[in-house]
Amino acid sequence: MALSLSSMSFTSFFVFYIIQQLCGGSLYANGCYTSIINFGDSVSDTGNIKELASISDVTLPVLQPPYGETFFHQPTGRCSNGRLIIDFLAESLGLPFLPPFLHDKETNNTEYMGQGVNYAVGAATALDTSYFIERGISTPILSTDLGLQLAWFKQSLSSICSNISDCRNLVGRSLIMMGEIGGGDYNNIVMDARPIKEIESSIPLVIDSIISAVIELIDLGAQTLVVPGIFPLGCSSSFLSLRGSENEEYDNTTGCLVRFNKIVEYHNQLLQTKLNHLQELHPNVIIIYADYYNAAMQIFRSPYKFGFTDGALKACCGSGGLYNYNKSEPCGSTFATVCDDPNMYVDWDGLHYTERAYRIIFKSLFQGPYTTPQFSSLCPVSTS
Ligand SMILES: *[C@@H]1O[C@H](CO)[C@@H](O)[C@H](O)[C@H]1NC(C)=O
Ligand SMILES: *[C@@H]1O[C@H](CO)[C@@H](O)[C@H](O)[C@H]1NC(C)=O
Ligand SMILES: *[C@@H]1O[C@H](CO)[C@@H](O)[C@H](O)[C@H]1NC(C)=O
Ligand SMILES: *[C@@H]1O[C@H](CO)[C@@H](O)[C@H](O)[C@H]1NC(C)=O
Repeated sequence: MALSLSSMSFTSFFVFYIIQQLCGGSLYANGCYTSIINFGDSVSDTGNIKELASISDVTLPVLQPPYGETFFHQPTGRCSNGRLIIDFLAESLGLPFLPPFLHDKETNNTEYMGQGVNYAVGAATALDTSYFIERGISTPILSTDLGLQLAWFKQSLSSICSNISDCRNLVGRSLIMMGEIGGGDYNNIVMDARPIKEIESSIPLVIDSIISAVIELIDLGAQTLVVPGIFPLGCSSSFLSLRGSENEEYDNTTGCLVRFNKIVEYHNQLLQTKLNHLQELHPNVIIIYADYYNAAMQIFRSPYKFGFTDGALKACCGSGGLYNYNKSEPCGSTFATVCDDPNMYVDWDGLHYTERAYRIIFKSLFQGPYTTPQFSSLCPVSTS
């Protein structure tokens, strides 16, 4: 027991040392991480939902045009018109776009997995699916949870590394992205028109679930983890359409719903407190908090400064109404229309951002000040 513990911490230290060395030198400007392992929901799904829909033989609006129109020129399962934060991250680290786990599993393409795997699935929640079922909260079709993604991860480890130390090395050399996850949990509760206190009471449980996943990954050898908070839900055109009313308080500089943004702020604060505690317990592991909320809020506060000339709160793709969002006719469905220039919009479909907004957020996070510790001080990423 004592022996295995000390050899374990030696491995941890060794991997940490190598990462520090690689990132210190300009020789390896893009060589800090040999792969990215990602968990999350539709904010970072690069195609698992597409595989899941195909396996289950269902059609989803997100698999129809205009999704993907700007960059991939076809729907890929990504919930945007183009690339996501995770795509910009992979590009900047000189790695391929993350293959969705379910796709590579079907094609046995495990060699490719060595440079990264994406376990994120659209509509996934941090809480177990049973949480929603037990409370009678309806969930989107094909909704899954973080627990399943961790199970997939452990399952795929056995096909990409050969023994415990080999696996620990692989995980240790990877950049682990834990999300964003949690936004979908609150989304489910809001979409089902539940009282706001049901969201509030779920927050500590959502955080516990994210933290448990982080601990499990550290136990498996993770050395560098990025754990994002969630986006300002009160600024999304879906929340504004479904929950806006004359009784709601609106932020007078952004037009966002104050109550829902306060919930997000509370979630993010609790997450950071728990991450700080975890960092103290694991001084050899690098735990990076990514402030998605403020990286997005800077845009909502001054959309014109960022070139979003049609404002920030109206969806580019939708079927009418004040915010161009209608729950029964979402983007990708028959009656939805798409704006002429998505680059002028922050909000893509009511729940997700446009590629251009994601790119700005990516830069603010990974090349700018919105990560703690600052990602660019650990690993300088290329500018593009
Ligand atoms: C992938 O591997 C499984 C199990 O080894 C096998 O049954 C399946 O036919 C393989 N699929 C392809 C597409 O090669
Ligand atoms: C673990 O696997 C690696 C890579 O295949 C190999 O080099 C190493 O010798 C193995 N270690 C043990 C203890 O089996
Ligand atoms: C916005 O609201 C704040 C506090 O509620 C108030 O102090 C401020 O004057 C308002 N600004 C404008 C432009 O109305
Ligand atoms: C949303 O779309 C449905 C179906 O087309 C329509 O009946 C309804 O009036 C729309 N709701 C709003 C608020 O426009």
